Amino acid sequence: MPTALITGASAGIGKAFAEELAARHTNLVLVARSQEKLNELAKQLREKYQIQVEIIVEDLTKLEAVNAVFDFTKQKELTIDLLINNAGIAEYGDFVETDEERQIQIVQLNVLAVVALTRKFLPLMRQRRSGSIINVSSLAAFQPMPYLSVYAATKAFIRNFSEALWAENRHYGVRILVCCPGPVDTNFFKNAKFPAGLAQRTNKISTPQEVVHKTLQALEQGDSTVVIGGFTTHLITQLAGIVPRKTLVKILEKQFQA
Ligand SMILES: NC(=O)c1ccc[n+]([C@@H]2O[C@H](COP(=O)([O-])OP(=O)(O)OC[C@H]3O[C@@H](n4cnc5c(N)ncnc54)[C@H](OP(=O)(O)O)[C@@H]3O)[C@@H](O)[C@H]2O)c1
Repeated sequence: MPTALITGASAGIGKAFAEELAARHTNLVLVARSQEKLNELAKQLREKYQIQVEIIVEDLTKLEAVNAVFDFTKQKELTIDLLINNAGIAEYGDFVETDEERQIQIVQLNVLAVVALTRKFLPLMRQRRSGSIINVSSLAAFQPMPYLSVYAATKAFIRNFSEALWAENRHYGVRILVCCPGPVDTNFFKNAKFPAGLAQRTNKISTPQEVVHKTLQALEQGDSTVVIGGFTTHLITQLAGIVPRKTLVKILEKQFQA
């Protein structure tokens, strides 16, 4: 039975990945900070699908947490066949008015943890000539986003990083996929202190399950990138390549004002 390691598995998209992969008879390693939520999910999935589920309670904004995650899998002699770098946070607002520490944490979680975990697990996949990594980016990766400046920049990093790794690793039997959803129905916007209704103004909202199905399908096809959402989401990804950047960012600044 293959094993998948999922970061941010206690809620939202990460939890939906855990549920879907469990249903597909994949053993799981679930990582997040909320011990109780992870325990409850692990118990439920073990009972329902007779799979092995390990939990790791770590705050991935701390670099030593990445070592702890890797060491745990080594100690348990687990082979990670699928790594899903999903944990991510944002903070809405004018950059100078947002919480200083939180902005640094966004970079630590959304960028540094993803690079560090990938650097730990990818060489083992390359040696085995098998394995997959899914990095969860966002529609925000396609253009700068006023009032989400740091978040959008981290997601652009993840997209570029992942697509480059896709090309490097396609000769080694290792798949890398970057998943770029538009708005998804999770607690993400509440946690990011988004003004009510702003993200959903024009965009279709996907369910976490839709994101998971389309992402796993794209992985099976060997795609490098998958965009998930409605017409507006797909349109935005195209506009970014057509509309001059200065014009686009001015439009977005108006659109994303509270
Ligand atoms: N929702 C959307 O509209 C949307 C759209 C595009 C992309 N995304 C991306 O999708 C990913 C998942 O977001 P979501 O919508 O599922 O959000 P969510 O419901 O807020 O879930 C976030 C997950 O990340 C975990 N997490 C947060 N901080 C962490 C930390 N310091 N260390 C370890 N785990 C941490 C949370 O668990 P704990 O609190 O237990 O640690 C939770 O399991 C993110 O990368 C996000 O950028 C979301």
